[in-house]
Amino acid sequence: MQNSIDWANVGFMPRKTNAVAVSLFRDGKWSAPELVDDFKFSINVFAGSLHYANSCFEGLKAFRGADGKVRLFRPYDNAHRLASSAAYLDMACPSEEMFVQMCLSCVKANLEFLPPYGVEASLYVRPLLLGVNPQINLNSSTDVLFAVMCTPVGAYSSGLKPVTAVLCRNYDRAAPNGTGRFKLAANYAMSMHPYNLAHKLGYGELLYPDSATKSKVDEFGSSNFMAIKGRSYVTPLSNSVLPSITNRSLQQLAADEGLTVEKRPICLEELAEFDEVNACGTAVVITPVCKIDDRPALESPEVTRSYTFGSPDKCGETSFKLYKRIRGIQNGTEEDVHGWCVIL
Ligand code: PLP
Ligand code: COI
Repeated sequence: MQNSIDWANVGFMPRKTNAVAVSLFRDGKWSAPELVDDFKFSINVFAGSLHYANSCFEGLKAFRGADGKVRLFRPYDNAHRLASSAAYLDMACPSEEMFVQMCLSCVKANLEFLPPYGVEASLYVRPLLLGVNPQINLNSSTDVLFAVMCTPVGAYSSGLKPVTAVLCRNYDRAAPNGTGRFKLAANYAMSMHPYNLAHKLGYGELLYPDSATKSKVDEFGSSNFMAIKGRSYVTPLSNSVLPSITNRSLQQLAADEGLTVEKRPICLEELAEFDEVNACGTAVVITPVCKIDDRPALESPEVTRSYTFGSPDKCGETSFKLYKRIRGIQNGTEEDVHGWCVIL
């Protein structure tokens, strides 16, 4: 199978692999995890996940190292975050150990889809928690399906080629006291329509300001916001952004490099002062952003202000250094001094 995939052009799309790891929570307990090769699940039409978005998920990556070892990047952090999402939905969630073991068994069953070392591709692992018991009333799900699937992926958007972004003022992704800090399926539904509008306008990313005041930076629709300002790594402190594991890792690596890490509210005007701006996350890794347009509405041609950062052709120097470090740890070419990788 490996030979039939063009690793340089994998894209970011689902592929049928060998197996999905599954377990069902019913009557107060999880069934023994199984590997299944049928990707078409049968779900009751009244399942809460289909009607009321009783669903949350995770995203993490496995890498084939230069030393031939297979590394899963920070799976316990994903397990922990899934538990916080599930707790918000009042749904059962597998233990961290069960989560990690099922991710590992999914990767193991699909090793032929794990890209070789040396290509900018990885195996994206997607753990999914779905409420499946039939219901019509508005309740948390009592029966929960946990499925871990994976697919080989390359760059999510442009890789290290900078993209343009637009400030999304007339749609909100997350309410001020809402669910932005959890990885709920519902959050992504909220951003679907503005995303489509932004893409039609030619932007690669949408930057959400805080919903309450529209005066501070929150995050991108698919990733966190981080900026380099002189020798500082600056990222928003906000209750509405997803606590990104990539961002947390980059903050640590920035501190290791002697940068000052500033996690604090960022006023929109401060965008004018940043040297480098990036989207960061599992899918995007680090995607440089070379321009952010401020538009009062995504339906109107009016651009009230444009902020530009670095070169439109390449990643900023400090960001690139951080990119090389995180990718080095994931590939096993740099020492994993923080103990982030779990080896298969
Ligand atoms: N923010 C949003 C809205 C996301 O969807 C993601 C992707 O998971 C992130 C941030 C980045 O989080 P992580 O680095 O844990 O993948
Ligand atoms: C990830 O980065 O893992 C995500 O879940 C983002 C998604 C939009 C692909």
